[in-house]
Amino acid sequence: MSPSSRSATTAAVPGPAPAPEAAPESAPEGGVVGLLREAAQAGPVTPLRIGDRSFVLATGPEQMLQILARRPEVYVKHGHRARPLLGDGLISASGEAWQRQRRLLQGQFTVTGTRRWAHHIAGAAERIADRWAAAHAGGAQVDIGRDMRFFALDTIWRALTGTALDEATERELEAVDTVVASLPTLAGGAPDPALAVDEALQAIDTTAHRVIALARERRAGAARGTGHEAAHGAAPGGQPHLLDLLLDTAETRTEYTDRLIRDELVTLLVAGHETTAQTLCWLFVLLDRHPEAHDRFLAAHASAAGPAERDAQLNALVQEALRLYPAVWLVPRHAARDDVLDGVAITAGTGVLVCPYLTHRIPELWPDPEHFAPERFLPGGRRPQHPAAFQPFGVGARACLGQHFALQETLALLRLLLPAYRPVLADPPRGAVFGANLRPDGPVRGTLTALRP
Ligand code: HEM
Repeated sequence: MSPSSRSATTAAVPGPAPAPEAAPESAPEGGVVGLLREAAQAGPVTPLRIGDRSFVLATGPEQMLQILARRPEVYVKHGHRARPLLGDGLISASGEAWQRQRRLLQGQFTVTGTRRWAHHIAGAAERIADRWAAAHAGGAQVDIGRDMRFFALDTIWRALTGTALDEATERELEAVDTVVASLPTLAGGAPDPALAVDEALQAIDTTAHRVIALARERRAGAARGTGHEAAHGAAPGGQPHLLDLLLDTAETRTEYTDRLIRDELVTLLVAGHETTAQTLCWLFVLLDRHPEAHDRFLAAHASAAGPAERDAQLNALVQEALRLYPAVWLVPRHAARDDVLDGVAITAGTGVLVCPYLTHRIPELWPDPEHFAPERFLPGGRRPQHPAAFQPFGVGARACLGQHFALQETLALLRLLLPAYRPVLADPPRGAVFGANLRPDGPVRGTLTALRP
């Protein structure tokens, strides 16, 4: 990008500059992301080759907006690589089927709609807080990676089924991770071809169909007034949940077969857990790497005027973690017809890569982009004006369905954990794995120091 083409869209709002930390947040990259970073030097839209395939990389916020929001008929989702896992669920669906499916679920995930999941989220958060209290009391290490995964799975599981996630089901759902790990990435094919993907897919199907059958039985029991739902641990107070919504819909809409219900269930589980879990893990890694920022947060949080101000402090941490390490670091599209973007001709059939990870690190947009500076997201902080300069949840019609859910659950957990403990990581991860999601390159584990007497 030439300096002039950037400056038209990138003016940062005035305000206090972020306080830079000792160490910059430039994870050792190399590999595909190194290639992308190098290519992005040439401009906001750059043709590049990865292996024997040609792509166009887009990192400028205006171009990101054009691709994801303004020209959806040109830049389409195409042959989603996770289709064997997700089937025709919302992520991989297209056209009118996608529109109908999105319309059905959308209302459950707006700011207001998400409030109906608050008690489920609170239950899942308290469970982790109890685990941490027990670990602290016993002087044991916490496996933050595992706890964050469990928490994110538990919240979405509760919203889907109305019941808390049990450890046996959690183990069954490890099959989801097996399949996700086997998906081809830009770097090439499956990282471990020996993975038992077929078996894992079967295990996922078995779990999903069992849960659907249980929900059906419970509904039939409730209709007969047998109180059968209590036997299956229905949501307290008979709260509706997402499976109920899907089963209700199936009564009047034939497209909602058991297969599609299974696909939506698995889609929400997949989309809704790894992303949130990795965001939380990154935040703990960042706080460990930047004790000064952690201290500033604790001081500001302690002196905040009330809950809204405390939440603003927590929210700034989460947003800055999402800026530096957006779990969905690469958003692929397929050019359905010829187009020209920022003077670059894009021929029909080309793979187009939008890269929030790189957009979030453009120095003209984000002063000191490699520094962890949550103050950017506080009132008066220096943030770029362009609406697509910060897009961890995507933009346009296919933007994240669960954005408000993710933020609500993240804050609910951090409200309990951050003012109470300072985790000290043992052998903290140094780099990042740029796979299906962006994750720390090692386990996130540590001991807890209590902050309250
Ligand atoms: C920090 C957590 C999360 C991040 C960073 C994230 C990020 C994203 C992004 C960038 C997209 C757009 C992908 C594209 O345009 O191709 C997306 C789509 C999606 N997300 Fe999330 N997500 C998060 C949490 C969640 C949660 C908790 C749920 C479910 C409750 C969820 C459900 C979905 C679904 C269903 C889609 C596909 C929407 C569609 O195609 O209509 N996500 N997410």
